[in-house]
Amino acid sequence: MNLLLFGAPGTGKGTQSSYLISYYKLIHISTGDLFRKALRENTELGLQARSYMDRGDLVPDSIVIALIEEVLSPISGRIKSFGDSRSTDKSVDIKSHKGFILDGFPRTLAQAESLDSLLDKLKLILDAVLYLKVLKSVLVERIVGRRVAEKSGYVYHVKFKPPRQEGICDKSGEPLIHRNDDKEEIVKQRLKAYWKQTTPLIEYYRKKDILFELDGCGSPEEVFSRIKTVISTFDC
Ligand code: AP5
Repeated sequence: MNLLLFGAPGTGKGTQSSYLISYYKLIHISTGDLFRKALRENTELGLQARSYMDRGDLVPDSIVIALIEEVLSPISGRIKSFGDSRSTDKSVDIKSHKGFILDGFPRTLAQAESLDSLLDKLKLILDAVLYLKVLKSVLVERIVGRRVAEKSGYVYHVKFKPPRQEGICDKSGEPLIHRNDDKEEIVKQRLKAYWKQTTPLIEYYRKKDILFELDGCGSPEEVFSRIKTVISTFDC
């Protein structure tokens, strides 16, 4: 099962990815995480992405597309496409297959078209786009209150998911940080970029008939339960 988790910054894509990857045994591909790792390691990619991320702008398509190609190609041999899993042909044993979940990519029409070409080349299929919908006022509160453990990637929230000890990750013991781009003025720019450059993809995937719209409000467990219900309509 190959999924795309879609939605504005702060809708809970990273949070839901962590449920999905362990429940359905999927590989998680997050362009945001890949860029942040590159930034920490001071690689060429990190240097290229830094100024865009710091301003809350999208990293140019050419950089992102090259990155996805580099990441997806080597793992494609480990992911067998089982065709359209929503088809009525249940003779395909999809339980024996894993897949991937894209988080934060694609974000522009050019990225979506490049993804289509790459998937064709790798003989993979995107089975569903799960579109998480959350009110803008809730998004800002979620992002500004987010705290993360940089290395292990665990995500907290000062109000909705506080760690047991303030500022320390429960699981890894790392100090929790406030992402540079989670400051309110940068968040506004990220949301602008989303409305302008990313929302056209909703129509793009609706036309392909693989878009599933989900209410992203409520607790993370409630949202995940909705996702499982949707997946149960095309998974067995
Ligand atoms: P990226 O890292 O992809 O950020 P994003 O899409 O802006 O998404 P976020 O990580 O902010 O939010 P999320 O939806 O994952 O929410 P989360 O689960 O953490 O991208 C960062 C930057 O990289 C971009 O701005 C761009 O510059 C660049 N970039 C990345 N990909 C790119 C691309 N394809 N093209 C160009 N540039 C690209 O949840 C948020 C908070 O809410 C957390 O604290 C969480 O605990 C809390 N929370 C989650 N769910 C709930 C819930 N149900 N109830 C209460 N609280 C909740």
